[in-house]
Amino acid sequence: MNSKTFHQETINKILAADNEISDEVNVRSASAPFQAEFPYERDSEAQVTRREFCNFLFLTSSALFLGAAGFAGKSAYDARSPKTFTPAKIDGAMTIEPGSALNFAYPSEEDTAILIRGTDGTYAAFGQKCTHLSCPVYYSQANDRLECPCHNGGFSSKTGEVLCPPPRPLDRIELRRSMVRFCSQKRGAWQ
Ligand code: FES
Repeated sequence: MNSKTFHQETINKILAADNEISDEVNVRSASAPFQAEFPYERDSEAQVTRREFCNFLFLTSSALFLGAAGFAGKSAYDARSPKTFTPAKIDGAMTIEPGSALNFAYPSEEDTAILIRGTDGTYAAFGQKCTHLSCPVYYSQANDRLECPCHNGGFSSKTGEVLCPPPRPLDRIELRRSMVRFCSQKRGAWQ
């Protein structure tokens, strides 16, 4: 009997059992002769599936591990390699009056910064983002300090040191004759 006949017998047996629910049991019993001609082990087939699943898990977790290691390595590298900031001119710096301030952008056009000329005529410049939750700070001439309107933060207008609440000093910008250089006090060193 060829496989086509077996196949037809199988179909006939399944169709004949119209009063039964067609499930795996009656399909398996009906297809037994067909299996004899083309034997395969369902258990070993399931094992292959498990093995494939394990391989998939292994490959996926390996890929995740390698990805995480790559990100960690890049972060460590970035933290260790010093950033360079291009010196830039602050337009109008020489014309501001003592006891006033001037906004400018540094180190990029998206980073707002503030130049202060104290009442004694000295200059200082800082990143304008409050170190608490990044609200912009402003210069208070009355108190001669930088103040944050969001949670009443206060910083020294000379050094950027914290006078009240925020966790760390403002990022300081080094001033030179007609040039500026950025310093993050977060890292504790001029850059
Ligand atoms: S954001 Fe400046 S004190 Fe909170």
